[in-house]
Amino acid sequence: MITEDFDVLEAAVAQPAAAAQVAPRIGLEQYYIEAGPDYAAWSREFNMHFGYYRAGANPLNRESMLEQMNAEVVARLQLEDIAEPRLLDLGCGLGATLRSIARRLPPARLLGLTRVPWQVERAAALNHAAGCAERVHVIQGDYEDSALPRSSYDGAYAIESSCYAHGADKGALLAEAHRLLRPGGRFVVVDGFLAGRRFSSRLQQRIYSKLCECWVIEEFGQLDLFTPRLEQLGFTDITVEHLQWRVAPSVAHIPWVTLKFLLTDVVSGKRKMTRARWNNVLAPVLLPLVSAPLGPMTYCMITATKR
Ligand SMILES: C[S@@+](CC[C@H](N)C(=O)[O-])C[C@H]1O[C@@H](n2cnc3c(N)ncnc32)[C@H](O)[C@@H]1O
Repeated sequence: MITEDFDVLEAAVAQPAAAAQVAPRIGLEQYYIEAGPDYAAWSREFNMHFGYYRAGANPLNRESMLEQMNAEVVARLQLEDIAEPRLLDLGCGLGATLRSIARRLPPARLLGLTRVPWQVERAAALNHAAGCAERVHVIQGDYEDSALPRSSYDGAYAIESSCYAHGADKGALLAEAHRLLRPGGRFVVVDGFLAGRRFSSRLQQRIYSKLCECWVIEEFGQLDLFTPRLEQLGFTDITVEHLQWRVAPSVAHIPWVTLKFLLTDVVSGKRKMTRARWNNVLAPVLLPLVSAPLGPMTYCMITATKR
């Protein structure tokens, strides 16, 4: 169905989410149009997330840690017994995880949703170049209200995209994931969350607000609201893994990547440095200041199964 009805789906998928509670200064689409190409400095494959470190891996090899995060997500989808799994990437960016799964699981049929038209175009070109355009599709749509057919997917995941959903419990995204999964289907969310409500100081609270503004996020998910919401919606087997230390080696790359970016793209780059691009430089620098052990932000992988 994914391949045949693709054009119909593309037209049907809903429009961007409703206006933000606390309106970010620029919209998500504009932010990714301006800052999106800069993710090349982080990952040559356009993995727009942190990496997963496994003992014995080379902590200097950032791309392999980013790729390992994709592998960890696939493992938790538990697809071993499904001949042709149908998978959904909720907030797929430029589709790096989709292409990674396509390489790992050749029979899989993959669909990615993003709100950003620029990413749809770019992802299509990258899928084509990777030779997986037949099996991997990226469409513009809203993961809180997608108009995709219910109970149609064996697995769904959201990597560093759930933070953009509305509310501290991210309820609309979770409800939509539940609607789209078949019974027994698995859902994996990887993202930053607030593990408590307390900031150590007003300054830290302000840094958190600035971080949200930089990444055009209304508010990060609140762990103690997110997991009860999963349960309430009918998910079971809910597991929360705290990955703060797993992602630390890739987070440690931020100063070096930032410096290199400043020296190359900023000093001698051809594209004008806009506010969105500066914000994308600033946000990863602010992140450790509000994250454990200094602050309430933590990084988690949350898995659940639809009953
Ligand atoms: C930081 S990127 C992560 C991309 C990708 N998951 C990865 O790890 O490479 C966040 C993505 O979430 C998407 N997104 C945010 N809100 C969305 C929504 N309501 N519906 C669909 N996609 C959304 C953005 O368009 C963007 O592609």
